[in-house]
Amino acid sequence: MYLQRLFLNQFRNYSVLQQDFSSQVNIITGQNAQGKTNLIEAIYYLSMFKTYRPAQDSQLIKANTNAFAISGAVRSKAGDLKIEVVYRNKETGGKEIKINGLKIRKISEILGNLTVVLFAPEDLNIVKGAPAERRSLLDNDISQVNPSYFINLQRYNRILAQRNHLLKRLSGSEKITGELLVWNEQFILLSEEIIAKRLQVLEKLIPLTRLIQRKLTEGKENLDIRYLLNRQKEIKKNDNIRSLLLEDLKKTQKEELKRGMTLWGPHRDDLLIVLNGNDLKYFGSQGQHRTAVLAIKLAELEYFKAESGEYPILLLDDVMSELDQKRREQLIQTIQEKAIQCFITTTEDLAYPWSEKTTTQKFYIEQGVLND
Ligand SMILES: Nc1ncnc2c1ncn2[C@@H]1O[C@H](COP(=O)(O)OP(=O)(O)OP(=O)(O)O)[C@@H](O)[C@H]1O
Ligand SMILES: [Mg+2]
Repeated sequence: MYLQRLFLNQFRNYSVLQQDFSSQVNIITGQNAQGKTNLIEAIYYLSMFKTYRPAQDSQLIKANTNAFAISGAVRSKAGDLKIEVVYRNKETGGKEIKINGLKIRKISEILGNLTVVLFAPEDLNIVKGAPAERRSLLDNDISQVNPSYFINLQRYNRILAQRNHLLKRLSGSEKITGELLVWNEQFILLSEEIIAKRLQVLEKLIPLTRLIQRKLTEGKENLDIRYLLNRQKEIKKNDNIRSLLLEDLKKTQKEELKRGMTLWGPHRDDLLIVLNGNDLKYFGSQGQHRTAVLAIKLAELEYFKAESGEYPILLLDDVMSELDQKRREQLIQTIQEKAIQCFITTTEDLAYPWSEKTTTQKFYIEQGVLND
């Protein structure tokens, strides 16, 4: 699939933008603070209807205005689609999404219309950062091609909040009430479903990642990803998830009542990234972290293709210059082989060895104005 045209209105530092793009390589060059990341963010927003940066929707509105709009024309196997989002400051009305002119009420109904894989400098946090970074990598990937998973996550967060509320209410009493037993059961059922799906997806993602990592390192590095229940216990697809969750419940129920909060469940799980047998987080060099993240991102492309029959759009924000020659060539080769659409932002106009068959379109950006 690819994005044919993007339209922005009062988004970040853009006043108005209307631009057609190449179905293959789009290179966006500009100095710092001109709007490169904002453009990548806008495309991501059309896919996930949220930003990946630490910002509220209201902060995406151009300063001194009170609404932003992003829309895009997408061409995919399913046909041509127009996706439109308008966000207005709370007083005037929140977020409105339309697909081909029809108003959409639930995001779960439209995820997957535009799938993206983003690779940005902060993705090094997948290795180095907190468990939430790794969980959201997995959750975002699965949600894009599996709307029922997204719905389950939303339900999970609601039940978690309700269970926490109840635990807080009961805290200090140490009394397991009938009401708590009901919530426990609901919580376990949903946790089990979420974890099972994550394991199922990892089973596909891990061999792909491993293969790419070996290719990137000439067979020197073996990458593995393991799922850690409650950040500790490694589990695999065929393990009895329910009984492990029940164990966690039994172990922590008293403490949960004392502290008034849930102390186990998929919102506390983690992924352990292992390189040649060692925890990459603590043993890897900066370059190894970068290579592993690149391998994961390239594996994500294949995962999306396997799940939806189409490659997603690849968004590369400022990462080319961070990669060494070999990794960069590998990335370029992958983009060319798969003939995927990608958006590459860079501060320097670097000459890459694109083959003649690949259509590359160049853009220059200055203060929120894009020129080709
Ligand atoms: N809501 C907003 N309204 C107006 N300007 C904004 C808003 N949010 C961000 N900006 C500005 O947009 C400009 C461009 O930001 P962006 O992150 O896209 O830069 P960039 O081109 O990616 O730069 P770098 O090379 O440093 O990453 C910045 O100066 C930023 O302050
Ligand atoms: Mg940037």
